Amino acid sequence: MSNPSNIAALDIGTGSVKAIIVQKRPENSGFKVIGRAENISSGVRKGVVADPQKLSKIISSTVNEACAEMGVEVKEVYTNINGSHISSVSSKGLVSVSRADQKISQEDIDRVIEAAKAFSLPSNKEIMEVIPREFIIDKEGGIKDPLGLQGVRLETEILAITGFSRYIEDVSRAILDADLQVNDLIIGPVAAAKAVLTPEERELGVVLIDIGSGTTSLSVFEEGELVHTAVLPVGTNNIRNDIAVGLRINIETAEFIKNKFGESIFGDRKTKKEKIKVPGEEDVVFQRGELKKIAEPRLIEILEEIQKEIKKISRVGLLPAGVVLTGGGAKISGIVDFTKKKMGYHCRVGFPRRFFPLEDDPSLSVLCGLILCGIEFDEGNGKGFMEMDGIKKVGSKIKKIFKVFIP
Ligand SMILES: Nc1ncnc2c1ncn2[C@@H]1O[C@H](COP(=O)(O)OP(=O)(O)OP(=O)(O)O)[C@@H](O)[C@H]1O
Ligand SMILES: [Mg+2]
Repeated sequence: MSNPSNIAALDIGTGSVKAIIVQKRPENSGFKVIGRAENISSGVRKGVVADPQKLSKIISSTVNEACAEMGVEVKEVYTNINGSHISSVSSKGLVSVSRADQKISQEDIDRVIEAAKAFSLPSNKEIMEVIPREFIIDKEGGIKDPLGLQGVRLETEILAITGFSRYIEDVSRAILDADLQVNDLIIGPVAAAKAVLTPEERELGVVLIDIGSGTTSLSVFEEGELVHTAVLPVGTNNIRNDIAVGLRINIETAEFIKNKFGESIFGDRKTKKEKIKVPGEEDVVFQRGELKKIAEPRLIEILEEIQKEIKKISRVGLLPAGVVLTGGGAKISGIVDFTKKKMGYHCRVGFPRRFFPLEDDPSLSVLCGLILCGIEFDEGNGKGFMEMDGIKKVGSKIKKIFKVFIP
C-alpha cells in the first residue's frame, strides 16, 4: 500500500537512475531509508532525457526494486531535472501598491513577481522556478517579506530558472510512462544544495559543484539565497573517455583506472615514471605521469568553466565558504586539494549525513536533497512562499504532473 508517511525520490542521472523511499518523520535527528535501488541509466545523454521510453523502463524497475525491500508501494515521486539547457536569469519588476491604506497585500506581491517574470524568453523555453531575491519598497531595498508593510511603489528582483520545454516534458513523460506521478521537478543543483550545504555556508557565500557522469552543475549561494545556477555538459565520462583513447584501452578498463588510480591524476612529478599494471585479458601497463597528462587537463577545463560562471556574477574571490564538491566525481581521490589549488578557495566534499543507513556517499546528494525538498513542500503547500533555506518557491507552486495532462 502507498503510505502517506513515506516519501520517494528519483534521481535521473546520466550514469545511473537512483531511487529511495524514506519515512517522512525524522527519527533521532535523521531520516530512515526504507527502500533503495540504483540501476545503470539508459536514454539519458548529458543529463537530458534523449529516449523517454528506454528511460521509463529503468525508472520502473528501479522504483519497483526500492519498493520490494520493505513491501511498500510508491505512486508519486520527487524528481530532478538536469542538463545544460538549464540557466538562471536575474530580472526586476515594479508595481504600484493597490490598497488605499498602502499596506502591501499578497496580491501586490504576486503582481510584482509576475511583472519581473515578463522578460523575453525564446518560445521553446519556460520558467521552471522563481526565487525572489529581495523586495524594494519606495526605494528601500533588502526586504525579504514585504507582506503587510506600507508603501506606494513595490519592486522586486528575482532569479528565474529556465529550461527547454521539450526536455521538461520528456522527463515527465518517462516518469508518467512508468505509472508514477510527478510531485515536482526540482533542478539538480538546487536539490543537491539542500542535502549538503550548511546554513552558515549559504549565508557566507559558497559554490556547490556536483560532478556527475555526464554533467557538472553548480549553484552559488550568498546571504542564504541562491544567486546563480548553471549546468555544464561535461562530467566524469569525459575523463573516462579520454583515458580510454589516451591509453588505447576499453571503456570498462578506463573507468576502473579512473576510479582506482585517481590520485595519479594529481600525483607529483617524482612518481610520474612509476609503472602501474592492471591485469586483465590483456595486461594494461602505463606510467602514472601518462594518466595525469590525459586526465588533468579535462579537470582543469571543468574548473575553468566554473570560474567563468563565478566571474559572470562578479563573485571571484568573494565566496568565503569556498567550494563544496559533490556527485560521484567528488570521489576522485585528490580532487579536493587540486580544486583548492586551482580555484583558490577552501574546498570540502559534501554528502548527505542524516539518512540512515545510507553510507557517506556524495553521489546520493541529489536524491537526499529531493526528499528534503519534498518534505518541506508537502508541509508548506498553500503558503504564500514556501521557503527552503534560501530557495523560496512562489505560491503553492508544486507542479504535480499527472498522466492525463500529457497526451
Ligand atoms: N572513486 C571514484 N573515483 C572517480 N570517479 C568516481 C568514483 N566513484 C564514482 N565515480 C564516478 O561518479 C560517476 C557517477 O556519479 P553520479 O552518480 O553523481 O552521476 P549521475 O548523477 O549518474 O550523472 P549526471 O548527474 O551527470 O547526470 C560515475 O560515472 C563514476 O565515474
Ligand atoms: Mg547527478
